[in-house]
Amino acid sequence: MPALVLLGAQWGDEGKGKATDLLGGSVDYVVRYQGGNNAGHTVVVGDQKYALHLLPSGILSPGCVPVIGNGVVVDPSVLLSELSGLNERGVDTSKLLLSGNAHLITPYHATLDKVTERFLGKRKIGTTGRGIGPSYADKINRVGIRVQDLFDESILLQKVEAALDFKNQVLAKLYNRRAISPQQVVDELLGYADQIKGYVADTTLILNQAIDDDKVVLFEGGQGTLLDVDHGTYPFVTSSNPTAGGACTGSGVGPTKISRVIGILKAYTTRVGAGPFPTELFDEDGEALRSIGGEFGVTTGRNRRCGWFDAVIARYATRVNGLTDFFLTKLDVLTGWERIPVCVAYEIDGERTTELPYNQSDFHHAKPVYEYLPGWSEDITKAKTFADLPKNAQAYVKTLEEMSGAPISAIGVGPGRDETIEVNSFL
Ligand code: GDP
Ligand code: IMO
Ligand code: MG
Repeated sequence: MPALVLLGAQWGDEGKGKATDLLGGSVDYVVRYQGGNNAGHTVVVGDQKYALHLLPSGILSPGCVPVIGNGVVVDPSVLLSELSGLNERGVDTSKLLLSGNAHLITPYHATLDKVTERFLGKRKIGTTGRGIGPSYADKINRVGIRVQDLFDESILLQKVEAALDFKNQVLAKLYNRRAISPQQVVDELLGYADQIKGYVADTTLILNQAIDDDKVVLFEGGQGTLLDVDHGTYPFVTSSNPTAGGACTGSGVGPTKISRVIGILKAYTTRVGAGPFPTELFDEDGEALRSIGGEFGVTTGRNRRCGWFDAVIARYATRVNGLTDFFLTKLDVLTGWERIPVCVAYEIDGERTTELPYNQSDFHHAKPVYEYLPGWSEDITKAKTFADLPKNAQAYVKTLEEMSGAPISAIGVGPGRDETIEVNSFL
């Protein structure tokens, strides 16, 4: 049975939450493998709307076991408040499994995230301020605190002291902030321990056994390919690997077990935070995409930057993730344009290229080369099959598929679960 990875093919907010939820009813496990509560995944079920940040979207499907893998960074206060928020709405969260090897986001990580951004001034990344980068930095520096440390008070204190040793110098001497008391951090963390303990499990073992037992496992990425710390627009990226390889390292499931990698691809492009974005629009078309598409951040409420579809990026996502399929979302948002520009190549310092440049300065200078596809004006939100789409919408999808290098197996025509055209089955 399949193990599928579902990930963002652009700069995040492609509609991963909706796509995961759609498959959630048919899968046994949904696993977050990287990122943390920087994510904002929207799921619309009937007249109910959910915004999930840390929890896998599979938590909304009663038969599905939601898993937070070792590659995720977990803010325990956010975890508990998200769980209780769902419980208040009648969602059963008791099946959740949390890796004991996942790293924690502590209050000092969120503090450092904010002061570092302020210090960077106009060079700032535009992070979500949730402590993601500082927590991953501690993991790599081997001074991180893991979920399992919550259950051994003396080890926890030793580790928090070690982590704060250097940071307190920086906070006090560089940022002119008060030093943070290790004991205070430990007391706060211990306050969460009892409530979290029941969820902690050897998730790597459980997931491998599930795959051996022919269960269906879905890995749900946060962020997107171009926000990947290795393959994205560094340094304007997040601090983890949303790309397909991250599903393996972030869960302890080997690459030979993955059967399909689905890229979630918006029919246009958006980005939140700083960094290059060749097809970004600063005119009324950009404003229209933002208002029709509801392009406002789920986590921070910031306006999303909006632009036309970029086929160079889609091809790149196919390449670095080994995509087998695309799920094209938000096609309905493009209804009403007479013609729709699609970026097919870049011009960089007078040279045309159809591949994403590896050189950061080149990407900053990339100018989009557009082809113009005929638009449609018919309402497509009720379309159930590909044949229901107007001819020009069909041609738009087919052209994007040819340019992007993998079959478009599903098309989103609205935010709801049933507002989806299934072209090829994922399972
Ligand atoms: P994620 O972070 O990738 O899960 O995406 P977000 O939830 O941040 O942003 C996607 C937004 O688009 C959400 O408000 C979804 O409800 C909405 N959405 C998802 N698919 C579609 C679609 O096909 N059409 C429309 N109109 N909205 C969609
Ligand atoms: P989902 O899962 C869009 C962006 C931030 C910032 C950069 C680094 O909803 O697609 P971080 O807080 O991660 O250190 O910020 O990454 N970013 C996202 N943009 N969607 C997301 O998640 C994002 N998560 C982080 O805006 O530019
Ligand atoms: Mg989002």
